[in-house]
Amino acid sequence: MTDQIKGKRIVVTGASSGIGAALIEQLSSQGAHVIGLSRRAITGCDHITVDLKDEDSMKAAFTQIGSCDALINNAGVAHSAKVVSGGLAAWDEMWQVNVRALAYCSHLAVGLFPPQGGQIVNVSSMSGHRVPPSGGFYASTKFAVRAISEALRLELRGEGDLTRVSSVSPGFVDTPLLDIYFAGREDELIETRRSVDFLTPEEVADQIINILKTPLNVEVGDVSMRSVGQVV
Ligand SMILES: NC(=O)c1ccc[n+]([C@@H]2O[C@H](COP(=O)([O-])OP(=O)(O)OC[C@H]3O[C@@H](n4cnc5c(N)ncnc54)[C@H](OP(=O)(O)O)[C@@H]3O)[C@@H](O)[C@H]2O)c1
Repeated sequence: MTDQIKGKRIVVTGASSGIGAALIEQLSSQGAHVIGLSRRAITGCDHITVDLKDEDSMKAAFTQIGSCDALINNAGVAHSAKVVSGGLAAWDEMWQVNVRALAYCSHLAVGLFPPQGGQIVNVSSMSGHRVPPSGGFYASTKFAVRAISEALRLELRGEGDLTRVSSVSPGFVDTPLLDIYFAGREDELIETRRSVDFLTPEEVADQIINILKTPLNVEVGDVSMRSVGQVV
């Protein structure tokens, strides 16, 4: 079996924190040439400063990357801005980063993959499978990630492109994203953390790397995962 990690050029968005930071560490330790994208600077791999809300910034980053074997669309923002109470700024940011940038980075990466095809792994969420009582707009962005993953797979196959498209849908993961998601509801976060025993970023990174390692004729669809303490 060919090594699908060692020496491969793997682009990771959202590299500066949480799941992205765990991915950078694990992929680098397994010999990948990792290119991390984020606004905040990082060490431990090549880094390009990118604002995923900005088209020119994304274009410039992928021009600089030049060629790659895989893209992990991991960056994401979660505000619990409800539909009923509004919040255009929060909705715009979530839509731009979680959906528009994921689609645009995929478009840009497909043009940089080798002729035999590359690999894209999109980080969705359990909120892409069911709508939680708060955070419904965030859930809509993650439902969209599943739709875009499937659309891209169909479009690529229609063009005879063998690039594989997969997604991972974690439940709660212990990262700084939750501090923003639970802003103003800190007591609920403490209680959720106590009762649920969150996944770690490393556990999610492991699953993403397992997908990258599947044989070339296997295309994983969506991997949903949550800690055993998380019921819904
Ligand atoms: N934590 C959870 O419970 C959970 C559960 C299910 C799914 N997820 C998903 O997992 C993914 C990773 O989340 P995480 O929990 O690891 O969150 P995190 O620790 O908050 O990291 C988010 C990353 O996204 C990047 N990012 C945000 N806005 C950006 C922008 N405008 N331009 C460039 N980069 C931007 C951040 O980088 P900069 O700020 O440096 O730009 C950061 O590296 C997200 O897609 C999230 O929806 C998380």
